[in-house]
Amino acid sequence: MSRMLVSLVLLVFLCFHASITQGEQAIYKDPKQPVEERIKDLLGKMTLEEKVGQMTQIERTNASADVMKTYFIGSVLSGGGSSPKVNATAKDWVDMVNDIQKGALSTRLGIPMIYGIDAVHGHNNVVNATIFPHNVGLGASRDKYLVREIGTATAFEVRATGIPYAFAPCIAVCRDPRWGRCYESYSEDHTVVQMMTTSIEGLQGVPPGDMKGMPFVNGPTKVAGCSKHYVGDGGTVNGINENNTIVDDSALYGIHMPAYVDSIAKGISTIMASYSSINGVKMHANKQLLTDHLKDKLGFKGFVISDWQGIDRITDPPHSNYTFSIETSVMAGVDMIMVPYEYKEFINGLLGLVKKNVIPMSRIDDAVTRILRVKFAMGLFENPLDDYSRVNELGSKKHRELARQAVRKSLVLLKNGKPGNPPLLPLPKTTGKILVSGTHANNLGYQCGGWTIEWQGVSGNNWTAGTTILDAVKNTVDKNTKVVYKKNPNEDYAEKTRLDFAIVVVGEVPYAETIGDSKNLTIPDPGPQIIETACKDTKCVVVVISGRPVVLEPYLDKIDALVAAWLPGSEGQGVADVLFGDWGFTGKLPRTWFKSVDQLPMNQGDPKYDPLFPFGFGLETQPKSQDDKHDL
Ligand code: BGC
Ligand code: BGC
Repeated sequence: MSRMLVSLVLLVFLCFHASITQGEQAIYKDPKQPVEERIKDLLGKMTLEEKVGQMTQIERTNASADVMKTYFIGSVLSGGGSSPKVNATAKDWVDMVNDIQKGALSTRLGIPMIYGIDAVHGHNNVVNATIFPHNVGLGASRDKYLVREIGTATAFEVRATGIPYAFAPCIAVCRDPRWGRCYESYSEDHTVVQMMTTSIEGLQGVPPGDMKGMPFVNGPTKVAGCSKHYVGDGGTVNGINENNTIVDDSALYGIHMPAYVDSIAKGISTIMASYSSINGVKMHANKQLLTDHLKDKLGFKGFVISDWQGIDRITDPPHSNYTFSIETSVMAGVDMIMVPYEYKEFINGLLGLVKKNVIPMSRIDDAVTRILRVKFAMGLFENPLDDYSRVNELGSKKHRELARQAVRKSLVLLKNGKPGNPPLLPLPKTTGKILVSGTHANNLGYQCGGWTIEWQGVSGNNWTAGTTILDAVKNTVDKNTKVVYKKNPNEDYAEKTRLDFAIVVVGEVPYAETIGDSKNLTIPDPGPQIIETACKDTKCVVVVISGRPVVLEPYLDKIDALVAAWLPGSEGQGVADVLFGDWGFTGKLPRTWFKSVDQLPMNQGDPKYDPLFPFGFGLETQPKSQDDKHDL
């Protein structure tokens, strides 16, 4: 009896001792513990200041190791074009992210910060990264496996620079091409957008099953993703950026919401609130859609991030009542705020609101729980720092080949030969003399569009690696074929010169966000003039580089063959591959091509539908060889 008692006492003592020892090691630091246990443990140890810091995302320009440590900052981002220095290498990026991270790790609890960046068509802020076609072109491919592979390649390139978080994919359903972000949208058709949520599987990894709202990031070659911009960003009135989306429930839940449901099933880690409003209610202040619907009904368990100064824009003018903005957005369900500059004001404001019991501690705890959940799930506590081991992934040959393939699959052939004439495409490689012409034939920046190196994109060929369409044509034709390049040929050029045919490459100049909003959707000068001149006395194929359908009807009769190439990115070789028939045209319009802007908005299924080319249109040519099939 007494011996039993002794052993019992001993056992109790041992258990007690074990639990103390474990306490000293901290449950939250133990990767073998379940994520939810680690969160609970860590949250229980955090001060209000540490919690508010987790909810704060600042721009890299004000993120020193010291600031990270003093304010317990939870996240840092690069805004569009924000890089550690001009022509920064992958190593420079790794060093920068690590320096900031070391500041975060030096805090009392050592919670790693999460660094985010817009990798929306490849790792587009980084020199020498592979630039993939913008989403509208990928929508034309209708190939969800291709899109998943692009996600995989993008994750590798982002990780090569030490970054674990991408603000992608944009799953907007653009319903009006006058919207300046239409190219970030895969399609006007929500089923195409839904199909392309395979990009999440590429970025984060293929989840083991329906994640039911839990974030899933499969290890250190993957990144946390961000479905954006929740919700209805592509449905604003007249396509005005950040404006109001007027919808009934069937449009909201039937058109704009479905890709979020898919994202949540695939384990999306974060969701970004939209600047826009739904029926007059700003999304950053929309408790019904952020909390009641997204979190409670759909069961999203990752974190909601604001857009850049998104909470400021709740008021008009922006930032005119920041305390109100903080209160309204946090209470609506925004968990992490992309401040990105006035972080002291944000932190003080949020601390004050909690101390005055305006924002309950339960809301703060929910936000921090979600942020920590993503950080634990992706293994950030175990691998907070990167090394140089993956720097060669950036712009690798393999990724460029994938991008080139994506270009081939994204091209949509809209016309091939004038009525009664034989088809012009595919073009012969062996011929006398051909003209390559147009503002976009020898301009890598134009070919890539907005969100490339700079927020608004760039012009010319001297800022990153890639192949222009002009070079691609030269690479493709027989060595005896003479290629003449005239950006803007004289009136009588074609007449005076014996040309076999002309390739004319014109289109939109790069833009992003509101700057891209357009009421007229015309091809800027001298594009239309170049079409007239180059197509006047010779057979011509016009390749349009644009983020969306543009005005073409007035020129259509003059053009022999017409190709929509969207914003193909760095691998212009893909365009020549198809023009000269090494591959066939297979792309299908992801958008309705209007005749005149007066018809807008006009989408497939509308009662009055009279397009120049309908949604889904795309002529085909016979391939001489075929792209590899993508299998699961
Ligand atoms: C935009 C951000 C962008 C930043 C670049 C802001 O106005 O909203 O998307 O990253 O400018 O400076
Ligand atoms: C854009 C977002 C982007 C963010 C960060 C905002 O202006 O709307 O799409 O992720 O800036 O650059």
